[in-house]
Amino acid sequence: MNHVLTASQFSRKELLDIFLVAEEMEKILQKGKSELAKGKILATLFYEPSTRTRLSFETAMLRLGGGVISETDVTYSSQTKGEILADTIRIVANCADIISLRSRTAGDAEKASEASSVPIINAGDGAGEHPTQSLLDLFTIQKHFRLGDEPLRVTFVGDLKYGRTVHSLATMIRNFENIKISFVAPQEVQIPEKYLMKGDTVQTELTDEVLKQSDIVYATRIQKERFEDGILYEQVKDAFVLDIQKVSLMRENAILLHPLPRVNEITLGVDALPQAKYFEQARNGIPIRMALITQLLGLV
Ligand code: NCD
Repeated sequence: MNHVLTASQFSRKELLDIFLVAEEMEKILQKGKSELAKGKILATLFYEPSTRTRLSFETAMLRLGGGVISETDVTYSSQTKGEILADTIRIVANCADIISLRSRTAGDAEKASEASSVPIINAGDGAGEHPTQSLLDLFTIQKHFRLGDEPLRVTFVGDLKYGRTVHSLATMIRNFENIKISFVAPQEVQIPEKYLMKGDTVQTELTDEVLKQSDIVYATRIQKERFEDGILYEQVKDAFVLDIQKVSLMRENAILLHPLPRVNEITLGVDALPQAKYFEQARNGIPIRMALITQLLGLV
């Protein structure tokens, strides 16, 4: 593995290998930290808002004993002076051993990888993909189910058009057998054709039946910043609100995931229900990113 650019680059075996390394990383985290990446530097270039993704990348590198340099606001980047991304990447690759990039346009990570002499990790490229999020999503799912062995029904709810985490997870989870996928969204933000496969279900209503039958409900925020039409956003912003009553319809051992941040699509009261696993899911980001950094740098 040279770069992490898209969910479609991973085979089932590679995914299982990453999860095994991530489990080793969990042990390191329990003990405190390691020196595995001592002397190595991670650059985080985040040209779109982020809290958990950037901080979990940086925490991962620090827990591995490495160092971090960061650019978190495109306003202060030379790109504001007109520098193209490829040039910025060439320069940053002189400073760091590995780069984690969040950018505004789908395809940016790929372009960056062509210009880079060091590994690039796509930390979200516009409405494109977010493969490290789906690694931690899948790692979380694997902790609760016998992924690939038992039949699982996964329901994606919310903004499936612009939600890059959905694009990546829907792609990545297809490496495993016995997965049945439902996409539930208003027509205006329904899943793009290219992520659909034969056998998937596409619906506009989140019915009680769907909630009762799902093993995994993956809810997402309506991606306000990606709408060109404010009226359209107003029309869909309250499309699905998962409250205590709705989530209680899910089986007790079913799980509710969300990449976070949430706005209004999961009410605060839901956090106390047994199905609510989104904070546990976010925590899994650190060992997963430690695993990726060590693999990409050839340290494990
Ligand atoms: C997601 C993202 O940035 O795509 N957040 C994250 O990285 N956990 C989801 C979102 O912003 O809605």
